[in-house]
Amino acid sequence: MANQDKNTYYITTPIYYPSDKLHIGHAYTTTVADAFARFNRLRGKDVFFLTGSDEHGQKIQRIAESKGVSPKEYVDGIVKTFQALWKRLNISYDDFIRTTDENHQELVQKIFKTLYDKGEIYKSSYKGLYCTPCEAFWLERQIEDGKCPDCGRPVEEVEEESYFFRLSNYGQKLLDYYKAHPTFIQPQSRLHEMEAFINSGLEDLCVSRTAVAWGIPVPFDSKHSIYVWFDAVVNYLSALGYLTGEDAKYRKYWPADVHLVGKEIIRFHTVIWPAMLLALDIPLPETVFGHGWLVIEGEKMSKSKGNVVDPNLLIDEFGADAIRYFLLREITFGSDGNFSRDALIRRINSDLANDLGNLLHRTSSMYEKYFPENVPSLGIEEEPEKELSKFAKEVVAKFEAKIDSIEPHVALEELWSLVRRCNKYLDSTAPWTLAKNKDYPRLARVLYTVGETLRIISVALAAIMPETSAKIREQLSLPAECKWEEAYIWNQWEEDKRILKADPLFPRIEVEDKEEPPKKKQNEEKVEAPVAKEEQVSFDDFLKVHLKVATVVFAEKVEGSNKLLRIEADLGLEKRQIVAGIGKAYTPEELVGKQIAVVTNLKPRKIMGLDSEAMILAAEDGKTLSVLNPEKPVKAGSSIG
Ligand code: ME8
Ligand code: MG
Repeated sequence: MANQDKNTYYITTPIYYPSDKLHIGHAYTTTVADAFARFNRLRGKDVFFLTGSDEHGQKIQRIAESKGVSPKEYVDGIVKTFQALWKRLNISYDDFIRTTDENHQELVQKIFKTLYDKGEIYKSSYKGLYCTPCEAFWLERQIEDGKCPDCGRPVEEVEEESYFFRLSNYGQKLLDYYKAHPTFIQPQSRLHEMEAFINSGLEDLCVSRTAVAWGIPVPFDSKHSIYVWFDAVVNYLSALGYLTGEDAKYRKYWPADVHLVGKEIIRFHTVIWPAMLLALDIPLPETVFGHGWLVIEGEKMSKSKGNVVDPNLLIDEFGADAIRYFLLREITFGSDGNFSRDALIRRINSDLANDLGNLLHRTSSMYEKYFPENVPSLGIEEEPEKELSKFAKEVVAKFEAKIDSIEPHVALEELWSLVRRCNKYLDSTAPWTLAKNKDYPRLARVLYTVGETLRIISVALAAIMPETSAKIREQLSLPAECKWEEAYIWNQWEEDKRILKADPLFPRIEVEDKEEPPKKKQNEEKVEAPVAKEEQVSFDDFLKVHLKVATVVFAEKVEGSNKLLRIEADLGLEKRQIVAGIGKAYTPEELVGKQIAVVTNLKPRKIMGLDSEAMILAAEDGKTLSVLNPEKPVKAGSSIG
């Protein structure tokens, strides 16, 4: 995405309309842009990250009228809510531009005048159609059933004297430019869309309105206001001080590396805006990336459907980092993606609470338990450490490559493969056995290696979940600030450090599960063999049940229950969480390291909000409950049958 040889990086979001409060769709674009900005800062680039508000136009004018306030009063109130949201989401923008800013208005007028003087803008009259929600002009032939082709809402007829920009001259020039700059429009599908749009014929663009008072006046004809999209796109230059005495930022950062926008406004950014830049002899941005839409349970968000998701409420409930992670991880960047509360909770519980949070938490517990005083000197690195270090380096390189190719969801998938690999490392090196055998140097090496891997993970997370990264680093006694190159180093963490104890990073979210049996029944629940006693089953049916040997690698009491234990069981190629009612018969400590027999292909179910992904086999005679285990130790994951 960025020119790697250049040490600057300029990224922008759309400037949003302050017609209403922002929703999760706006938070989505801005979060992704923030992750890219942070990543490039981490990499040592001089970053300029711009967001802002698009305050003029008919839409805002009408809303303000309906509220009985001036447009400026109206937008001032809304813009404050934008800035408050960005603060809560930890959006690290370098500048927030408002199109009502003096210097922005001046530049828009200068550019309008320059293009007029060059003959690129001329006066005529417009008769056609206008979509106010999109602030877009349409031709009769582009409209179906009187509806806007972009948003599907009714268009209005407009007939006014207008200024026009000679957009029709730029069709071929734009097509040639796209061809010569294959990374200009991304993803590829949007490029084809734009080529088709241009090939259907470009008309000159109406760039002024006489019917709209709320806008920047045409400098030499003040009964006209400048078309809001002509005004809006100029923000990317006005924020840099272009054509002012203080244009150092323009000289440093232009052309932009990425304009990140939603797919519905790609046309304004890849046809109109570049044509204006070509007419002005200003270089074009490197990339315009048009991402997909967030839909809610498959439906477009809209006030009338009442399904608009307020990011503030989500932050209240789950915290900024969980929302950031979800948006970046869950949705294939570029495509439309579904936002659902269930999916969000699933990600929090599995990726954040279970994989990441638990890795940190259980290792800090082991440090406390095994080395309450000092950490002894470390044993030498053995094969498992060497393998993990190699894996970590590969993941770090892939993470970087996937951020650069604008696939943050894949970058995070890669990063989590390291989180899971590290959990596995911990399970297979079995610190509890090392402790039992008093092999302290080896034990110290193992715990250190987990800390070192978490350090690497914290560097990558600095771009994604800044608060979480800082918390992890605090537990590692490291400063919050870090550099990307540190992710490539192995064994940088100091050997006498330990992972300090702290509250879990992401407490599990308890969910009401409709399929869950009622509380009472749950407490009485027995651990039963899979097959009922009297009824006979065929051998084939018996084979349908997968029985395996698992090794318990972690166990703890389930809060709020005196009989349920949450167990993590190693099954060789995978690890499963099991919730079992054996807490009266076994303490968590005595289970760790034990081999147990489990059914692995029962439908997973939820017990007290926790997923139970296998069932433990146990015998019970009314007095004693005894888990079944193999007579001799076998490899975790071995089949029983
Ligand atoms: O278009 N899913 O402002 P706007 C994903 N002022 N992203 C979404 C989204 C959704 N459901 N809804 C909105 C404007 N967005 C102009 C921009 S730029 C010079 C002027 C995001 O308030 C997405 O980035 O309608 C989309 O392009 C933008 O918000 C539109 O914001
Ligand atoms: Mg819009």
